[in-house]
Amino acid sequence: MSRRKLQRYHENTLKENILEPGKPLYEHIRGRWNEDYFHNEYPITVELGCGRGEYSTGFAPQFPYRNFVGVDVKGDRMWKGALIAEAQELKNVAFLRATIDFLDQFFAPGEISEIWLPFPDPRPKENQEKRRLTSPRYLQLYRKLMIPGGMVHLKTDNSQLFDFTLEVLKTEKIKDLEYTRDLYHSELMRYHYGIQTRYEQKYVKEGMNIHYLHFKFDE
Ligand SMILES: C[S@@+](CC[C@H](N)C(=O)[O-])C[C@H]1O[C@@H](n2cnc3c(N)ncnc32)[C@H](O)[C@@H]1O
Repeated sequence: MSRRKLQRYHENTLKENILEPGKPLYEHIRGRWNEDYFHNEYPITVELGCGRGEYSTGFAPQFPYRNFVGVDVKGDRMWKGALIAEAQELKNVAFLRATIDFLDQFFAPGEISEIWLPFPDPRPKENQEKRRLTSPRYLQLYRKLMIPGGMVHLKTDNSQLFDFTLEVLKTEKIKDLEYTRDLYHSELMRYHYGIQTRYEQKYVKEGMNIHYLHFKFDE
């Protein structure tokens, strides 16, 4: 492991805005985010596979009456987001180092009001379908943890993942689906909020179309 990574892992252990194994809140945060971390009653948006957490740190100053939690397994990436949140004194941002597969160990039913999936790994092989973050088993998990009417957003450059998601959604009880295969030339651009993740910057530079969709789970 590189020195830089080790240094970041060490710094993460000292950061109050990163919840990770070994820290007291990590074990007890389920159902208690508002009470024990944010100390307010505002709704919680979760950024899954957050990487550096551009959505969480980008949204936090725009929406001071909402809370944001970036979730990723990679501590060295969230280190960057946590640093930005610290520097900007963003009290409505937290990072959770965990695998999304166990999201229900960290959030209680109805605790999440909105989910963003910015540029999830496309997992293109057929035998990887179940690992795509919009496969039925993940959607079932999200549905369980979200408030009724909570919105899920997906952004990706990958048309195969996008088409797969639209197919999966045909079999799900959802409503208010809207989508575009070219976000930057779409009226759905109003959902862009001026936020570009690291991956998005790269794909936009390469001239690739950004695909975007959102929907709500139906009761
Ligand atoms: C392609 S990167 C995108 C990062 C960031 N959202 C962006 O747009 O720049 C996908 C991220 O998802 C994380 N990830 C993938 N599968 C995950 C899982 N099951 N649980 C937690 N994080 C996951 C990876 O560690 C990685 O940081």
